[in-house]
Amino acid sequence: MTIPHTTQVAIIGAGPSGLLLGQLLHKAGIDAVILERQTGDYVLGRIRAGVLEQVCIDLLDEAGVGERMHAEGLVHGGFDLLFNGQRHRIDMHALTGGHNVMVYGQTEVTRDLMHAREAAGLPTVYEAMNVQVHGFDSTTPSVTYEKDGQKHTLRCDFIAGCDGFHGVCRASVPRNAIAEYEKVYPFGWLGLLSDTPPVHDELIYVNSPRGFALCSQRSKTRSRYYLQVPLTDRIEEWTDDAFWQELKLRLDAPAREHLVTGPSIEKSIAPLRSFVTEPMRFGRLFLAGDAAHIVPPTGAKGLNLAATDVKYLSEGLIGHYQGQSDTDLDAYSDRCLRRIWKAERFSWWFTSLMHQFPEDSPITAKFQNAELDYIVHSQAGSLTMAENYVGLPLDFGQPR
Ligand code: APR
Ligand code: PHB
Repeated sequence: MTIPHTTQVAIIGAGPSGLLLGQLLHKAGIDAVILERQTGDYVLGRIRAGVLEQVCIDLLDEAGVGERMHAEGLVHGGFDLLFNGQRHRIDMHALTGGHNVMVYGQTEVTRDLMHAREAAGLPTVYEAMNVQVHGFDSTTPSVTYEKDGQKHTLRCDFIAGCDGFHGVCRASVPRNAIAEYEKVYPFGWLGLLSDTPPVHDELIYVNSPRGFALCSQRSKTRSRYYLQVPLTDRIEEWTDDAFWQELKLRLDAPAREHLVTGPSIEKSIAPLRSFVTEPMRFGRLFLAGDAAHIVPPTGAKGLNLAATDVKYLSEGLIGHYQGQSDTDLDAYSDRCLRRIWKAERFSWWFTSLMHQFPEDSPITAKFQNAELDYIVHSQAGSLTMAENYVGLPLDFGQPR
């Protein structure tokens, strides 16, 4: 690949946000170059959540990368809440008038996007080091980086900061131009991936006195389980046996009996955080996905939010290049944030409802149980859970 020196949109980061944006722009005839710090294999090695909302499914279809997802993804119309030793099903499909979610790993979404980009011969510079963004407050922004020891400059009209929570784009914005809202939770999630059949055909979210647990899946033969653990726990201390033993202690008897254990393929501890940046646009620099916001994983909103940011950003850029109008581009930050805060609220609420907090007194467990009992037995309570879980409609509550 010859390295381009000019493009319309310079995209920083080849995670799901950057790759999806690249694909949507390509469909609209807009040029983009993606600069990624890691190798493609490294990007595909990161295990993340795997529940897609309808809005995200539609967007992957629109980008032309939905084929394998529809063939291999699992459509789920409900999930279980386990608390007080009892399991209760939230029937999302019935409650929301026919909405479902798709269980399909983020790794697979990323792989499909990567293949589509490769097949279309679109430029991605992997192992682009020391990426720096310049002049985004002018009409002539640029990005500099090093590749194989050579310095490069990429001139562009716009920069899309799709470079995740630890990226360079948000960090390049003057401190007085940006507000950051953050909550760090006092525990982590220990995740284990295994080639074993899932314990149940839908997900089980568990509130137990020993802490939260989640039984999730990637396919009929691959499972993903999580345990709430103290932040001080180290991954080396958790043998596979210890993991399975602790998981069993948090499950109900039928699940415990059905659980098939096996060697882990991947095991890691992730911290939990709520984080939002306001605004998401700085002149000709736009932040999207984890670069602008993080949700705790309870409810799996991260990838779905990234997808809608990218949808709004692509609409803005298409409006600029094809419609000669910046109305959508100017509305980008507000449109995104309105949706983001609703998903942030839901993820924080679901996290608070399901976990044991170290500072809690016994009354909190009673409150959690009462609220969960209300949710599963009240139509209004169940619907609130279901409509947020399947994802609020695009532009929910927005006059457009
Ligand atoms: N230069 C170039 N690339 C960078 C830089 C940099 N300075 N910093 C980070 N990157 C790359 C990372 O290596 C990564 O591949 O940007 C990419 C960002 O990808 P993600 O972290 O996956 O973020 P995003 O694409 O927004 O995806 C959001 O990921 O974390 C989950 O819950 C989240 O599911 C959501 C999704
Ligand atoms: C996952 O499968 O990794 C997963 C599913 C649902 C969640 C979080 C993570 O809420």
